[in-house]
Amino acid sequence: MKAIILAGGNGTRLAPITTAVNKHLLPVHDKPMIYYPLSVLMLAGIRDILVVCRDCDLTAYQHLLGDGERFGVAISYALQSEPKGIAEALIIGEHFLANGPCCLILGDNFFFGEGLGPKLREAAQLRVGAAVFAYQVADPERFGVISFDEQLRALTIAEKPRHPKSDWAVTGLYFFDHQAPEIARHLRPSSRGELEITSLNRHYLTQNELRVFLLGRGSAWLDMGTSASLQEAGAFVQMIEQRQGLKIACLEEIALKNGWIDADSLKRSLPTRCDSEYYRYVRQLVT
Ligand code: G1P
Repeated sequence: MKAIILAGGNGTRLAPITTAVNKHLLPVHDKPMIYYPLSVLMLAGIRDILVVCRDCDLTAYQHLLGDGERFGVAISYALQSEPKGIAEALIIGEHFLANGPCCLILGDNFFFGEGLGPKLREAAQLRVGAAVFAYQVADPERFGVISFDEQLRALTIAEKPRHPKSDWAVTGLYFFDHQAPEIARHLRPSSRGELEITSLNRHYLTQNELRVFLLGRGSAWLDMGTSASLQEAGAFVQMIEQRQGLKIACLEEIALKNGWIDADSLKRSLPTRCDSEYYRYVRQLVT
């Protein structure tokens, strides 16, 4: 399975922080934001990844992630000229996806919790229909909202409904079969002028082909798109990492555990000066 990380947008909800720096490059405690969704894809076992970003940020992303070889993955890039909605990423990525299934993740979504890896790997087996990950929140009206029956069959899905039918938010992590780009091309822009991912998911729902994975109460999902949530995510990461002495979203560590890179190539790929907290951790993995 291939995957797309959507790292475009103007980050207007974070201006002026995002005036000169793209949102997904901002620090979340000890690493750039985009490391978190990238780690989710790697935990799902996905190695072929397209980063969709703005033209003006491309050099920065290439500088940060390169071709992905250091992390045992293959990263390529595609441009989104204006933010026209999440579903547009599938149209931009159509050629890259080459008529195969895909995972789509938003560059500002943070996932953490025991058992996440197996769930992700199960979802990555999907070849027919679509799957979303839902998380219970106190303020569902801020998100896409999904309701479902006891067998986890989706019943309704709505984008930021005034009267939510459940308190389960649809997180920014989606799995689609090969039809998704084609369906996305036929969507009409919503009242906010965007190709809504919720409309695409609704298409699958009406075909009875939308599967729901639940992220239970022992897990954490945060979006990092406002100054408050950005701060909260950073504090969360710092607290867990300090307590456990283990890093969240350490790409080199995941690649090593997945057997995608070996200790020697990791040592060779490290920067000559490894005096940051992050690189000290990476170095001790191989010494
Ligand atoms: C988008 C989606 C929404 C989803 C959310 C998750 O919202 O439209 O369905 O719940 O991401 O982060 P947006 O960030 O565009 O407001």
